[in-house]
Amino acid sequence: MSDKRAIGVFDSGLGGLTVVKELNKLLPFEKIVYFGDTGRVPYGNKSRNTIRKYALQDEKFLLSHDVKLIIAACGTVSSVAFDTAESLPVPFVEVVSHAAKAAVSATKNKKIGVIGTSATIKSGAHKKRILELSPGATVIERDCPLFVPLVEEGITGADDIISIETAKRYLEPMCKAGVDTLILGCTHYPVLSDVLKKVMGDGVTLINMGEATAQYVKDYLNEHNMMSDAKKDSEYYVSDKSESFSAQARILLGDSEITATQVDIEKYE
Ligand code: DGL
Repeated sequence: MSDKRAIGVFDSGLGGLTVVKELNKLLPFEKIVYFGDTGRVPYGNKSRNTIRKYALQDEKFLLSHDVKLIIAACGTVSSVAFDTAESLPVPFVEVVSHAAKAAVSATKNKKIGVIGTSATIKSGAHKKRILELSPGATVIERDCPLFVPLVEEGITGADDIISIETAKRYLEPMCKAGVDTLILGCTHYPVLSDVLKKVMGDGVTLINMGEATAQYVKDYLNEHNMMSDAKKDSEYYVSDKSESFSAQARILLGDSEITATQVDIEKYE
C-alpha cells in the first residue's frame, strides 16, 4: 500500500529547509508542502501564546493541502507549542526528541551542549529529554538570538568576521566546559555548520535535528504503510514576499526550479 499525499513541513522561515534537505535524501519519492512564516520570523523571541497562535495557523494551512503528516521543523514550536498538535487529524512530528536521542548516543564524555532560540532554551525541552535518557549527563544550554537573522540574511561564511565573532561570543563557554556533542537546537543553525565547526573544533559532534527527524519519519511511514511510490513536485509557501526565500531555497536544496508562493496566513484561524 502507498499514500501519495504530501508531507507538510513548517517553520518560521527558511530554517525548516534544513529538515527538508534531509527528508529529500532519505525519502526521495515524498512530495513536500512547505510553509515558511517569513512575514513573522523570528518566533524564538516571542511569547509562548504568540508562538502557539502562529503554530496553530501554520498547521491549519498545511491541513488545507491534504497532507498525511505534519512536521514542526522548528525547534521553537517543538519546544513550546507541541501541544497545539493534540487535536490534529494527522500524525505530528517534532524535532527535539530525535535530536536528544542522537546526542545521547553520540556523546562519549556525557557533556552535551544545546544551542537554540531564547524561547527554546528557556523551555529546557532538550535538556529534559536528554536527562530522561541519560540521567547522569551534564547539559550546558545557551540561546543565540543573533544566529537566525544571520541565516535569514545569508551571513553564514566561515571566513566572515561577523558570523565567526558572533559564534565565538556564544560558544566559547561551551568549549571551555568541554562538551563533546552540540545539539543545533534551531533548524536555522545547520546553515551555519561551517562556522560552528570552526569555532567548536574537530572533536565536537554537531547534531542536526533534521537528520535525526528524517530517519524517524522514514521509519514511521514504513511501519504504517504510508510511503509514496511516485514523486510529485514539492510546493513552497511563505507569508511575505517570496523572492529571497526562493533564491535561498534553490541554493540550500540544490533545486533551481523552486519558486515559492506568497499566502495570507492570517486567513487560517
Ligand atoms: N528555525 C526555528 C527554530 O528551529 C525558528 C527560529 C526563529 O524563528 O526564531 O527554532
